[in-house]
Order: sequence, then structure tokens, then C-alpha cells
Amino acid sequence: MSDTITLPMQVDRLPGAPTHRPIGPCTLVILGASGDLTRRKLIPALLHLLGDGLLPDDFMVLGVGRKQLDDAGFREEQRVATGADPKLWPRLAPQLFYLTLELDVPDSFALIAERLEALEAERGAERGRLFYLALPPSVYPETIEGLARSGALPRRTQSDPRWARIIIEKPFGSSLATAMELNRVARAAVAEHQIFRIDHYLGKETVQNLLVFRFANAIFEPVWNRHHIHHVQITASEAIGVEHRARYYEEAGVVRDMFQNHLLSLLSLTAMEPPARFQSEAVRDEKAKVLNATRVDGAVRGQYGPGVVAGEQVPGYREEEEVANGSPTPTYAAMRCLIDNWRWQDVPFFLRSGKRLPQRLTEIAVQFHSPPHLMFPLEKGERIAANVLVFRVQPDEGLSLCFELKVPGSGMRISSARMEFSYQEAFGSGEHDAYETLLLDCMAGESMLFLRNDSTEAAWRIVDPVIEQWEREPPPGFPNYAAGSWGPAEADGLITAAGASWRNS
Ligand code: BG6
Repeated sequence: MSDTITLPMQVDRLPGAPTHRPIGPCTLVILGASGDLTRRKLIPALLHLLGDGLLPDDFMVLGVGRKQLDDAGFREEQRVATGADPKLWPRLAPQLFYLTLELDVPDSFALIAERLEALEAERGAERGRLFYLALPPSVYPETIEGLARSGALPRRTQSDPRWARIIIEKPFGSSLATAMELNRVARAAVAEHQIFRIDHYLGKETVQNLLVFRFANAIFEPVWNRHHIHHVQITASEAIGVEHRARYYEEAGVVRDMFQNHLLSLLSLTAMEPPARFQSEAVRDEKAKVLNATRVDGAVRGQYGPGVVAGEQVPGYREEEEVANGSPTPTYAAMRCLIDNWRWQDVPFFLRSGKRLPQRLTEIAVQFHSPPHLMFPLEKGERIAANVLVFRVQPDEGLSLCFELKVPGSGMRISSARMEFSYQEAFGSGEHDAYETLLLDCMAGESMLFLRNDSTEAAWRIVDPVIEQWEREPPPGFPNYAAGSWGPAEADGLITAAGASWRNS
């Protein structure tokens, strides 16, 4: 076999303008507005939406935070922190307001309700309210209760133009029991259709494309099952370390941080049954069903030691700021999952994620069975590669399909070829950050890309036994992988036992 040949794929028909449900006047209330998420994700997303003409005409933001700021101070801080486009900024800045508040003091929620009413009264129109919890998860329950009690977040029907919705950032609980309790609190305050549990992976372009690819193309469905698929590999590798988030990460670890939400979301979209309609509840029903049939059948944990990433010497996890000396927190995990249903019986889904791996890469690789009989003469030790379909989530979002072909010339030489589709090449640079898609969907009341309570609980049910066992049993000689490597050696054993190997590229 010679090197892989790459064949570019092209788009024949560029689609028309995207369709969006019209969004009426609304106010976004960011709780925790002086924090990182607001300047890194939310304000930049709003600026892009504004630039693309997708924000409602009558739109405003009320930031609520501890930091002592007035409206002008908040605007200036966001302008500097986001490096906002000087052409767009004057259009967004006057719509930003700020309220300095400690949420744990009595009456704080009444003050939010009061300020909101005053701002809304100036505008006159009936408007929707969207509350974004950019807060530490430990204060979610009392915040939701406080907002509901003060009347700031009222119960509303789905068709009411004065809609009220709440976005809850991950982590949604830290175990099945805490997630159930949070669901109970949220559903006691408002109706399920008002609750938007965010998993930002669901806003990524390739992740959404999985649905189109699977269900708008008839050729894949007949082979999308145990008869044709050997295994599925889902990788979310990161080159970064724990950065400045050790306080959170020490409690969470990789399974709560990446598996319970992002990786299981990718698994559910890859494995779910075709829904009858492209409607939120129909899609969410199928996702929940497949998660309810999923279990972990083997797992390996790891923690990075010092090493070299992208040519730079980096410290081990235990040397990072605010990490305990002998910390048992896993920064890497690999799992073999099985799905107990007719479509997937005995097809392993290998999931892995880790920090300080050689590169940032998120992909879903679907590997098909090798041909049952090989009639071609092969050199001793030569093997034919199995067909692999890869959904590349990041970087360079796209798709690739690997297959075998004959090398021109005399004799029978076989080579692997890869058909490559790149979003960037096909559609240019008009990519959207996941938060843009998700904020817009939430304002439009479109919940398909958000997690329903049953899916979050099903996902905890899958990972809880692993977390509990790992918290009970001391880790196996941490650190057990060097920063810049592909993780601990034991993770190879997990996949080679199935006659496969990790796609480390
Ligand atoms: C977050 C995790 O949800 O996702 C982080 O808390 C992780 O630890 C991040 O770095 C990865 O997101 P992305 O979009 O960069 O793949």
C-alpha cells in the first residue's frame, strides 16, 4: 500500500440565505456578567449576530455582576475585553446595561425584577426575557428559585410574546442525584419548555451536519448498523492544560467536564434512530432513547505529567496553580461504551478525551468492517485499510471518507484514498461560533440543540458508576502520561482488544 491519496469534494449548489424564525423584542439578562464567559463568548456572539443582521431590532442586555460598575463602565470594559469592531460597537453599546449586585443578599432578585421593569417600560413593547446563568453551578438552585420568586422569571406559555426562558450552563449537576435535584428545582420554578440546558458542542456546525448527513442521504442508513460498522471512535483531544480553571477542574475531572455532556451528545447523534419529524421533541426523544440504552464496558483514566506540547515545555497537572500536590483528578479518560439495542448490539463506541494531548482535535470516526474475503494478492504482512467515515468537528470542520483503489499501471497495487470535504473551502469563512447559534435558537424558542432533562439524567446514569469507582479507588500511579503524548498506554489495550487502534494523527 502506498501513501493515502486525497481527493477534494465540491459543493454543487450553494444554498440560499438561512431561514430563521422572526424574533420579537427581547432582553438578555446575564447573571455573572463581570465574568469570563461574558467577554469571551457572549458579547462576541452578540456582535457577530448584530453584524449578520440576526439580532432583533429591539434588543437589550442587562448584565448583573458583583463588580462595582455603572452602565458606562460595563460598556467600556466589554469594548476593551472583546476588541470589538469599531463599526459594530456603537450599535451594540447603547443596548448594554449593568446592575451591581451580590446575589446572596436578601432582595437581590427583587432588584433585578425592578430594573428590568424600568428598562422595559422605557421601550414600551411586549418583550421576551432570556436569563443566562453564567455563574458557579453551586448557586444555580437558589438563583433559579430567586428569579422565579421575584417575578423576574415568570411561568409563561409557549406562545406568549412575553416569553421568559433560562439558559443553564454546564455542569448540570455533578452526579445523577444532584442533576435530578436541579431538574426538580428548575421545573418547580418554570415549565420545561422555558429551560435551555446548554451543551455548546451541539451548536457546532459539523455536529448539526451529522443529522443532515445521516437523514438526508439514503445511501448511509442501510449500512448504519452492527452488520456493517466495526466500531465508532469519538475523540475530543485538547492541547491546552487546565489553564486558570483548576478550582473547578479539581472537583470535576475529565468525565464530568467532557464525557457527561459533549462526548455523550456526539454519541447520541451518531447512534440515534431516525426521528419521524425534524422537530425538537422528536429529535430529543430519540437522543434520550439511545442514551438510555448505553452503558460503559471498560474505562481507563490518566493524568498528565510534565512534557512538551507544540515544542514548548509544560508542567504536569499536579504542578499547575491551585492543584493539590497529590491530586487524584483525571485529566484523560477513554471508555468503551456499548449500546444495548438491535442496531448497535456488540458495536463498541470508543470515547476518549484529555488535556495536554498533542493537538486540538474533535472527530467522530465510523469504521466499517473489512471485506469478508480478500481476493487480491497482497505482500506478506500487507493489509487493506477498512473504510472510515470521519466527521471532523474541529479544527477545520469537515468530512472525509477513506476507501481503497487501484494504483494505475501494471500489476495490482492497492492504495488508500481519502475524499475530503472542508466547510471552509466549500462555503468560505462564514463560520459561526456555537454560542451564536445557541443564543439565537434560544431567543427563537427553538430547543432542538439543547438538552432535555431526561437526556441529562440518562448521561449521568452512564458515567456515574465510573466516577464513583474512580473516586473510591486510588488512581494507578498518576501522572501516567506525559504532556504532548496521546494518553496512558493502558488506553491502547482498551481498543486493541477489539482489533482496532486509536486514530492518532
Ligand atoms: C468545556 C470544558 O465545556 O469545553 C473545557 O469545560 C474544554 O474544559 C472545552 O476545554 C472545550 O470546548 P471546545 O469548544 O474548545 O472544544
